[in-house]
Amino acid sequence: MTFDKKAIDAKVVESLPFSHRWHNRFHLEMPFGLINDPNGLVYADGTYHIFFQWNPYGCEHKNKCWAHTETKDFIHYKTPELALWPSDDHDKDGCYSGCGTLEEGQVKVLYTCNAKNDGVRTPAQRFGRLAADGSVEKEDIIIPDAPSGITGHFRDPYLFHRGGRHYLVIGAQAEEEPLRGTALIYEETEAGWESLGEIKTRLAIDAPFGYMWECPNLLKFGSHDVLIFCPQGLAARAHDRQNLYQAGYIAGHLSLDAMELLQHTKFQELDRGFDFYAPQVFQHEGRHILLGWMGMPDRDEDYPTKTAEGEGWMFSLTMPRVLTLRQGHIYSQPAKELRALRVEETPVDIDVDSVASAQAPLFDGSEAILDVTLGEAREVTLTVEYGLEKLHFHYDRRSQLMTIDRTGLKNGGKGRRTFPLYAEKHLAFQLFIDRTAVEAFLQHGEEVASLLVFPEKNIRPSLAITSDAPMESISGRIWELDAFRFEA
Ligand code: FRU
Repeated sequence: MTFDKKAIDAKVVESLPFSHRWHNRFHLEMPFGLINDPNGLVYADGTYHIFFQWNPYGCEHKNKCWAHTETKDFIHYKTPELALWPSDDHDKDGCYSGCGTLEEGQVKVLYTCNAKNDGVRTPAQRFGRLAADGSVEKEDIIIPDAPSGITGHFRDPYLFHRGGRHYLVIGAQAEEEPLRGTALIYEETEAGWESLGEIKTRLAIDAPFGYMWECPNLLKFGSHDVLIFCPQGLAARAHDRQNLYQAGYIAGHLSLDAMELLQHTKFQELDRGFDFYAPQVFQHEGRHILLGWMGMPDRDEDYPTKTAEGEGWMFSLTMPRVLTLRQGHIYSQPAKELRALRVEETPVDIDVDSVASAQAPLFDGSEAILDVTLGEAREVTLTVEYGLEKLHFHYDRRSQLMTIDRTGLKNGGKGRRTFPLYAEKHLAFQLFIDRTAVEAFLQHGEEVASLLVFPEKNIRPSLAITSDAPMESISGRIWELDAFRFEA
């Protein structure tokens, strides 16, 4: 396969603006091809650089390249371009995920070269530099292969710094029976990058915590360290781990001497929706800004855009969300920059006293902040209605469970997700409703859920709130939201 950057970039330009009504307006996506993990996130001199996995040649998980865009405000973006593509024996089977960094003012990336020969994978970790023409110039391979005891599933390096030294955390699979997911740490020394081995946790004491960990991030929040990773192979539980693969974290204290994350919390999911995986975090001036992939590997049948128009397209990225750690739990808030998308405001102030329902029309793109004072209601359902097709957020105050139900949609993935959410008197929603992407921030970011819905008919959605007994009041605001702008 050859990759002609000029031709591919020109095709992107020609295909914009998006025309199909399933294309989102304020979520990053591509006009054609399949995108997945955000990669190479780095802030450089006023600009956020965003790379992501992209197959420009179809909606299959192959031909893995990196696309690149940049933004100063998370509203105006440079039209995405092809930045990194397979070109030699090391990365001929894909330029897999990795991170970004800044070196002497220049944007650098570190990615996994994927090569498969006679069924044997050789993963190599290699640096590259973003050149003036928008392509990544490949540099040195720093780790040529998986270390002993680790299978060929060794990828997705993420750089972090402690005490003035540089480290990497890399997703891996231990070659054991059964296979075991893990993460390895490397330290930069004068002699090159040296393995410090696996980072120990209490997750895999009795049995492996999944068979593979993908896309690790190691973050610092004050005196706490957080390991984000994506374990594959965890069994579903009543209210957890409902997706095929998970994206979550443990918070504790990293000891590089003991090579252990000490006193860590239980594994918690970063997002409670159906379509969220492989997140990556920018670290800039104390802010932790996360972008996730709105999609799920090995669930292609849930995403009908594959055949929607022309060659089709697949997947989006989430909006940027800012993470904070409070008492071992990550809270997620939409980045404040996104407020600039707000066009028109409709106040919602309903004294529902004896009424048990309320209704509001939505826009082509909407944000709704709603605070429900529960009153006598024990069950409250917020519904996004697309004509007869309905997406429900159902809260049961007695069991303190939130259920997101998309069984009422004809196209795409269905099912329900139920998870604990504590609401005493108030239930707070902040919903972003794009054409197909929905992001719900609940109880001020205590939980967040990302999901995609593909309404059959071209109908403006509306919002309805109903309850089993009178609520006291519903107050808040609904905004029409503008679209992201792409510029040359
Ligand atoms: C996660 C992942 C990564 C890999 C990339 C390839 O979605 O499988 O582990 O680097 O996607 O596209």
